[in-house]
Amino acid sequence: MGQATLFLLVLSLALGVHGLSAQKSPLFQCILAGDWQNDLGSNMTIYHVYEKGSFVGSYSTSVADDPSKIQTSPLLGFQHLTDPIGQPTFGFTVNWTFSEATSVFTGQCFVDENGEEVLKTMWLFRRKENTSLDNWKGT
Ligand SMILES: *[C@@H]1O[C@H](CO)[C@@H](O)[C@H](O)[C@H]1NC(C)=O
Ligand SMILES: *[C@@H]1O[C@H](CO)[C@@H](O)[C@H](O)[C@H]1NC(C)=O
Ligand SMILES: *[C@@H]1O[C@H](CO)[C@@H](O)[C@H](O)[C@H]1NC(C)=O
Repeated sequence: MGQATLFLLVLSLALGVHGLSAQKSPLFQCILAGDWQNDLGSNMTIYHVYEKGSFVGSYSTSVADDPSKIQTSPLLGFQHLTDPIGQPTFGFTVNWTFSEATSVFTGQCFVDENGEEVLKTMWLFRRKENTSLDNWKGT
């Protein structure tokens, strides 16, 4: 189990506008859609959050047993929509396309004291083991 904190990259005009609203409204909503980066240089893009809170995106990790094999991998998740302070909890699964491993993340989208959006997450990584006797070391 690991911890990851992802910060919003203010790359596009749309994200910049979100950043400006953050300073105006204490009830600013933390929006998952966008480009995120963690402190190890992994990147995540949430393409779209659908009406009922499901979302799709991709994860480009900077860490792997064999970094030369890394490929951007798809993710699918859900966020809550009813949180009254606009800082929703969420979870998603990453389907690593360059290995037979799967990761799950859960966390919360916060607007921090500087008005910046930040994702505080915990994750589990599951690799494939050959037999159930090896299960103990797979996660
Ligand atoms: C993450 O994005 C940055 C900035 O675009 C890029 O320099 C870096 O190589 C990316 N890292 C990964 C693991 O894709
Ligand atoms: C999940 O990853 C596997 C490769 O490990 C790939 O064949 C499959 O198409 C991926 N599924 C989706 C929905 O991207
Ligand atoms: C699983 O079996 C394959 C084929 O025998 C082997 O190459 C691989 O190293 C094994 N994986 C683990 C985690 O022991």
